[in-house]
Amino acid sequence: MTMLLKVEDLKTEFKTERGIVKAVDGVSYDVNEGEIIGLVGESGCGKSVSQLSLLRLIPIPPGRIVDGRAFFEGEDLLCMKDEKIRSVRGRKIAMIFQEPMTSLNPALTICRQMTEMLELHLKMDLKTAKERSIELLEKVGIPDAKRRIYDYPHQFSGGMRQRVMVAMAISCNPKLIIADEPTTALDATIQAQLLELINQMVQQSHTAMVLVTHNLGVVARYAQRINVMYAGRIVEAGTVDEIWEQPAHPYTIGLLQSVPKLGAQAGKKLVPIQGLPPNLINLPPTCPFLPRCRYKSRECYREPWGELRHLGGRHYVRCHLDIRGEL
Ligand SMILES: Nc1ncnc2c1ncn2[C@@H]1O[C@H](COP(=O)(O)OP(=O)(O)O)[C@@H](O)[C@H]1O
Ligand SMILES: [Mg+2]
Repeated sequence: MTMLLKVEDLKTEFKTERGIVKAVDGVSYDVNEGEIIGLVGESGCGKSVSQLSLLRLIPIPPGRIVDGRAFFEGEDLLCMKDEKIRSVRGRKIAMIFQEPMTSLNPALTICRQMTEMLELHLKMDLKTAKERSIELLEKVGIPDAKRRIYDYPHQFSGGMRQRVMVAMAISCNPKLIIADEPTTALDATIQAQLLELINQMVQQSHTAMVLVTHNLGVVARYAQRINVMYAGRIVEAGTVDEIWEQPAHPYTIGLLQSVPKLGAQAGKKLVPIQGLPPNLINLPPTCPFLPRCRYKSRECYREPWGELRHLGGRHYVRCHLDIRGEL
């Protein structure tokens, strides 16, 4: 296995009127070539910011990457020259966002947007780029692609727009695709179809992917390894089997119980996690999951929020309790 991306101690903050938001507070993980890594956590825990930081797409100010390294093919994305990082975006690392209207230009036809990327990154001439774009649209299941390529984004349904985004993401044969909640805005049937499509596309081209979602069931289906995020940090990491069979963080257990488990008997009750995620301004020194934790002990109130602890294999947890097997 060749390592493609290695993120070390990434920290990203936002300066706001109410104080410093520590959106990403020391995140480390790696992605191997062709591997699918799931990044899971509730809304607001820092998933998107952790990914946007890699491509240096966070607004500065109010944002600031405070610390960290992100080695991609041996070079640190976080200190690359602007020009260099622009040549990585879309070409080596592509993104699929939750809401395609934020990344598609409403004023330009799909044809224009797709061919522009191919001309820029792969130096194709317009005719070849157009042919290739139509091929790609057909590949992702856009009916009548030869004609539809001249449409504007708003002329496509939400699901079809996401298919266009997938076509654009794979168009330059990137090494890594970051799919940030690619299906959250869509209804359930279309979500499933689109995830299958994305999975099929990355498998075919052996592209690595970071699949960001708040649904642990989704990542368990597609990813090989999972990182669970809470309050700006990874609280549990491991292979899908390790996390599915022996979840070690109370938060992960909460997530598992709040999503329909694949193969679970119908009618099994889903239990939402009580309480709200913490405010990322002025986090307490103790574990930020403490107020919501069903397993907390008196010790948890005295212990500072600790480091990731190795549990064997590829399994790590940021919790001093040992509750594996209590699910
Ligand atoms: N431009 C910004 N200004 C201030 N705070 C921000 C900005 N973008 C993100 N944040 C904050 O960073 C935190 C992490 O956000 P985000 O990564 O988008 O969460 P997720 O993707 O997990 O839902 C949140 O508390 C969010 O409010
Ligand atoms: Mg997000």
